[in-house]
Amino acid sequence: MKIARFSRLGFILAAAGSAVGLGNIWKFPYITGIYGGGAFVLIYLFTVLLIGFSVMIAEMLIGYMGRKDGVTSFEELAPKHSGMWKFGGFQGLAGLFIMTFYSVVIGWIFHYIATSIFYLPSSAKEAENVFTTMLHTGFTTQLFYHTVAFVWITYVVNKGIKGGIEKMNMILMPSLVIILSAMFVYATTLDTFSKAVDFMFLPDWSKINSEAFVTAVGHAFFTLSLGMGAIMTYSASLPKDANIVKNTLWVVFLDTTIAIVAGLMLFTFLYQYGAGPAKGPGLVFISLPAAFYEMGVLGNIFAVLFFIALAFAGLTSSVSLVEPMVQYFIDRSGWSRLKASVSMGLFFYLIGIIVILSNIDGYKEFLTWGGKNLFDWIDFTTAAIMLPFGGLIMAIFVGFVIDKKKVESIMRPQLKFAFDIWYFSLRYIVPVSMFVVMLNLMGII
Ligand code: PHE
Repeated sequence: MKIARFSRLGFILAAAGSAVGLGNIWKFPYITGIYGGGAFVLIYLFTVLLIGFSVMIAEMLIGYMGRKDGVTSFEELAPKHSGMWKFGGFQGLAGLFIMTFYSVVIGWIFHYIATSIFYLPSSAKEAENVFTTMLHTGFTTQLFYHTVAFVWITYVVNKGIKGGIEKMNMILMPSLVIILSAMFVYATTLDTFSKAVDFMFLPDWSKINSEAFVTAVGHAFFTLSLGMGAIMTYSASLPKDANIVKNTLWVVFLDTTIAIVAGLMLFTFLYQYGAGPAKGPGLVFISLPAAFYEMGVLGNIFAVLFFIALAFAGLTSSVSLVEPMVQYFIDRSGWSRLKASVSMGLFFYLIGIIVILSNIDGYKEFLTWGGKNLFDWIDFTTAAIMLPFGGLIMAIFVGFVIDKKKVESIMRPQLKFAFDIWYFSLRYIVPVSMFVVMLNLMGII
């Protein structure tokens, strides 16, 4: 089957749309808050540079060379043992698991867009009440908005790479950049801006333990959309003359900049109007609305715009989380796009309902193990284990399995002298670092 191709700009926006998501604006600031700021940011930035870059180039290359869904690309590019390597492509499943909670969070955001127009909580306490009431008792509300997210995402994926995914990214990504830039510029005029800069860039190593380390590495993969085939599936539709290195640079640049900008802006607002860098997933849903309240009417406008930007970020990532498995069923099982999109949609939608229940009083007790409920478990297993593992497979696949001559003929002209560094990194730096992370996760070191 012929796959529709992205335009040049379309690809960059779609890949950046995948990367820039709830990870940047919701998760990054709150985990930075938990692990004390600067030191955590440093580990994250270091991982992005050392590992993220190399793995993204590798992942893009697999898609670009394979030109098919992930499973088929792995299978066709492996000179030997293709029956085993094809499992590399099933990483796409991780995307559907991520979607089970991602869609729920997008639902919360929709709810906050609707309510922030007229109402903002007048204190942090009230804000916390509003959020936890929704979380622990608002099953119907969450279900309703989760359904809206499911319908929206499935609709766009069903329209395909060109007519759905590219088109949505071409509109939502620039809008998101405009909204965040405007709010960021405002934040720079407040006196607490420098405090936010200090918090994010002056390292405080006291909160860094091995968990912080694994979280930072996992987050680097999560935020760059690496290791599950989202970037790979998009790159199967790259224009023929595309430059993989330039595309990677753009995506990493946009993703990192937006995370830092969002972090600085949120912490500035929280210092200026709220209680400082609050911790935990409630950061943008609790501390931030209370801070916006202090701004008066401007606060309502900012709140609505902020949640719209957050929703845009989440939606453009969602389609990339679903598309790999959709592409798989179209290519391999001959399904129509409609059938594939609706089935994959229903998969995350239905499990998502259980994820909602894992926060609801009366149910959460049955959906919590070892201190984490289903929501946290899926978040943790996908980001900290499945994505880094997927990234490792991709690095090894390009570094050792695909014929070096083929890899070199495409990548040497683009990377020039850096080709050898990149190749070395795929073969040794990435595997060794991932191995250390895995040992750490298993509690061995
Ligand atoms: N990068 C997205 C974010 O930061 C999440 C994502 C992960 C998207 C993996 C696609 C693949 O929110």
